[in-house]
Amino acid sequence: MSTNQPDGAVPIVALDVGGMDAARRIVKTLGSRCRFYKVGLELFTAAGPDVARWLRDEGCEVFLDLKFHDIPATMAGAARSAGRLGVRLLTVHAAAGGAGVRAAVEGAGAECGVLAVTVLTSLDAGELAAVWGRARSLAVEVEVQRLAGLAAEAGAHGIVCSGHEVAAVRTSFGDRLAPLVPGIRLAGGESHDQARVVTPSVAQAAGARYLVLGRAVTAAADPVAAMDEVHRQLASGGI
Ligand code: C5P
Repeated sequence: MSTNQPDGAVPIVALDVGGMDAARRIVKTLGSRCRFYKVGLELFTAAGPDVARWLRDEGCEVFLDLKFHDIPATMAGAARSAGRLGVRLLTVHAAAGGAGVRAAVEGAGAECGVLAVTVLTSLDAGELAAVWGRARSLAVEVEVQRLAGLAAEAGAHGIVCSGHEVAAVRTSFGDRLAPLVPGIRLAGGESHDQARVVTPSVAQAAGARYLVLGRAVTAAADPVAAMDEVHRQLASGGI
């Protein structure tokens, strides 16, 4: 699976909803404007693998964002199940270790890319040090790069990172890792609870391979117009 997209970054809309009916409404509203959806813990826990099967039947690609973190045999089995569901992208924690990430890559198969989460953006340097029992001087950016290297060594397709880190990831890893960037906002839109947001065109210009669009589209007054604006920015490269 290529880490570069010749036609620009691929937009993925996050189905951050509590059930199938709400998910169906978003997919129906966006129609041909979005053909790639993220299914995360909330929707998967409520609706299970049927939601992925339904999206595939609708002709959509699925990004399964369940952030696997377990022993290698379990990572391999879960990734194999995701691959059999026809999932195109899935997430694992890089902190599961190189063997765990590699097991997921092997289990997922050639048609399903494994993206590694490095450090959760909700953790600051102090919390990270407390969790890992390390000195308080620990720098989050250094840990992100270190874990990205571990993911690349283990054969991951890419990593999840913010729009502010994507250029550094590309500098360090070039085409070895495909960056997926959440926290995308349209100019003039609300940032909600995201601290570090970027526009689609800025993320694409910095080297993002995939963009995750949540509330910028799904909570917009006009989701169709918001999605059209995403496509316009990605096509023109303009801000
Ligand atoms: O609505 P919003 O655009 O903030 O949603 C972003 C999506 O990306 C959510 O599904 C969120 O869980 C996910 N995400 C994130 N930041 C990360 C990793 C994932 O916002 N670091």
